[in-house]
Amino acid sequence: MVSRDIMRSTARGFKKYYSPNIKGELRLDTNTNVLGTNPAAERFIREQRIDLNDYPVTYSDNLRCALAELYGLDMNNFAAGSGSDEMLDVLFKTFTEWKDDCLVPYPSYSLYDYFAQMNGGKVVYSELDDSFQLDVEDIISSKAKIVILASPNNPTGNSFRQKDVEEVIEGFKGIVVVDEAYGEYSESSMIPKVDEFENMVVIRTFSKAYAMAALRIGYAVANKDLAEMMNSVKIPYSLNSLSEGAAIAAVKDQEFIKRSREMVLRERPKLASGLSKLGFEPFPSDANFILARSPVDHAAFTEALKNKGILIRDFGSRRRMENCVRFTVGTEEMNTELLEKTAGILEDLR
Ligand SMILES: Cc1ncc(COP(=O)(O)O)c(C=O)c1O
Repeated sequence: MVSRDIMRSTARGFKKYYSPNIKGELRLDTNTNVLGTNPAAERFIREQRIDLNDYPVTYSDNLRCALAELYGLDMNNFAAGSGSDEMLDVLFKTFTEWKDDCLVPYPSYSLYDYFAQMNGGKVVYSELDDSFQLDVEDIISSKAKIVILASPNNPTGNSFRQKDVEEVIEGFKGIVVVDEAYGEYSESSMIPKVDEFENMVVIRTFSKAYAMAALRIGYAVANKDLAEMMNSVKIPYSLNSLSEGAAIAAVKDQEFIKRSREMVLRERPKLASGLSKLGFEPFPSDANFILARSPVDHAAFTEALKNKGILIRDFGSRRRMENCVRFTVGTEEMNTELLEKTAGILEDLR
């Protein structure tokens, strides 16, 4: 066996990401849109005749224009790429040096650690409080070069208080990234304020509410100087032509996003109360998923649900989320099926 010593030192401890073997199960494990493929994007792809011999537009100018129109900003406030994961990678590449401290609240999205370490950074954590809110003082006093705040936060589901986020942006000495991957489900957004702050970058994705995870599209919004810095570091052409065109079509169909948001707002409290009745302890959520403490062993429950054809995400072995699992909010029919199967499993496991 080849020794891992051959690898870049910062990457030697890495394991591969969550990669379940899918056999047609109902996927309530990835927080994608349960209404299914984005209709405008699907139509675009069916009808499009792209010349495969041409490179994409280098910096996705057409998508950046469509986003500028959507938010009432300038195209030069944007950088677009292959998923918000690429934008996270670009953020570390643009704003951090080897061995810099990179601040990540805990618990939050696990890939922040990966991108920070991959780019030579040292991850330092700031504990969220008992309601999974920010410790503003702790973050502001840090010497880190970058902090990433997911709001709504994954996997906990709650948004951070806007006042806390703004206090962090004003007090923190480095770059503050606000990851709004689930921003379409939330009341508040920092996007309208990008020109007010020198050190804030907001990132968003087409993988969740937009229902286009297969196409890998994400973007960053910031003041024009920061956006220019990120564009100059980003791999040119990283957003392919088909994905860019589909994203533009999807941006122009805000009716689908509205319908998706309304469905989640309607079904989320029903799912939370159904889970509570079965003995789960759900945490409050502003997103299209719910983290809940299970009344039975988390791993056994997740496995039993998989065997009955439903995938959820198990976080129960992680600190602060002991025995917790995360459910994507389904349609009424999906949630009914989920709750019925859950009731059966609980009887078997108790
Ligand atoms: C908080 C958060 N940020 C970023 C991402 C990455 O999304 P993308 O598919 O755009 O890379 C996810 C995906 O789960 C997420 O939950």
